[in-house]
Amino acid sequence: MNLINNEYTIGGVLVSDIAAKFETPVYIYDALIIKSQVEIFKKAFEGVDMQIKYAMKANSNISILKLMKKLGTGIDSVSIPEIQMALKAGFKANEIVFTPNVVDFEEIRQAIKIGTAINIENLSNLEKLGKEFGESVPCFIRLNPNVVAEAESEKVEAWHKQSKFGISLNQFDKLHEIIKKYRIRVNGIHLHSSHVIMSKEVFLKGAKIIFDLAKEFPHLEYFDFGGGISVVQSDDDQVFNINDLGQLFKKVFSEFCKEYGRELQLWFEPGRFLVSTAGYLLTTVEIIKTNGQTNFVGINSGFSHLIRPMFYNAWHNIVNISNPEGEEKEYTVVGNLCEIDNFAKNKVLNNVREKDLLIIENAGAYGFSMSSHYNSRPKPAEVLIINGKAKLIRKRDGFEDFMRNQVEIEL
Ligand code: LLP
Repeated sequence: MNLINNEYTIGGVLVSDIAAKFETPVYIYDALIIKSQVEIFKKAFEGVDMQIKYAMKANSNISILKLMKKLGTGIDSVSIPEIQMALKAGFKANEIVFTPNVVDFEEIRQAIKIGTAINIENLSNLEKLGKEFGESVPCFIRLNPNVVAEAESEKVEAWHKQSKFGISLNQFDKLHEIIKKYRIRVNGIHLHSSHVIMSKEVFLKGAKIIFDLAKEFPHLEYFDFGGGISVVQSDDDQVFNINDLGQLFKKVFSEFCKEYGRELQLWFEPGRFLVSTAGYLLTTVEIIKTNGQTNFVGINSGFSHLIRPMFYNAWHNIVNISNPEGEEKEYTVVGNLCEIDNFAKNKVLNNVREKDLLIIENAGAYGFSMSSHYNSRPKPAEVLIINGKAKLIRKRDGFEDFMRNQVEIEL
């Protein structure tokens, strides 16, 4: 977002024009930022055979998927409808990896039929895969390196031995027993570190454990290191810089490949890194009120549109774009749902007036994709700024969206 002559723009378009044309609340995504994030990611891993599998759970709008396709990424999917959407956006089945969690084997069977890469994360489904497909269908194995890390929030913690993700190291004997019994061809190793774990020390510790284990799989072609690469959200954010990660990674990975005796293809599944900073939730201030000592700013949105502050205590910057020169004051920004519904507490904003436009930043990942119909409020519209133009990529919900699939019975 840029401030030019006291007016905010996104991708060259005036934010006030977007509000006037599409109304609020509205999600706005800047295609140029997505493009630049993809390029930054590719550049950080230059020199190794690396593929990006965009984790579409972060933002699965079909136009965002088509943009990713154009930018040359593949897809990381976690459900059959995600695979179907990716296919619809033009991805080929062999550009998609299926990384589901605790699912019925039928979903894996469907993905096999479609032809995606398959990632298995529990022994039960591995055994079913072996029984039904033997060596005819190769698979990735998702491992959990049991690196105990301090987590900002246990809701996203993945490398912890108590976490539900991946096959734990203490099940390794059993894992190899199943692989041997059914002659399963393990062609990839997968591990995903949630962003909270992306510190250099923890990363190296996890990588070392995994590389040691990987040597025991003779048919590897791929190494998938998942997502979890952070973006800077505030000035005091400590983020593992992508270029530092790339440098470090290239070194440990090429050492591993040398020892393994073959060059493997490296995959990553970034979601947040590619789309988070490209997205904004634009809202309108409806009510300003003071209760006790607190100045509340009430906006026409809520955690049904962006759940991250309430669910993860996530910090999102907020800007009053209607009054860039206004005196700075402290506010608690709240949504319109019948709950606490805080977006930010004690947030310093330029003086806020009713009908001012507030923008919530870093909303491109896990914003719309985690939205709901709670309180029967419509989900926002979505707009993509591309080639200097604002394009509608999802209509705001109407009444029919609340009634869809409901069955009204005679009483
Ligand atoms: N790969 C796998 C297997 C994953 O489980 C995830 C995210 C990703 C890739 C992408 O992670 P990313 O690069 O976006 O961090 N809703 C939460 C994040 C949950 C992430 C779950 N898995 C949030 O709003 O922060």
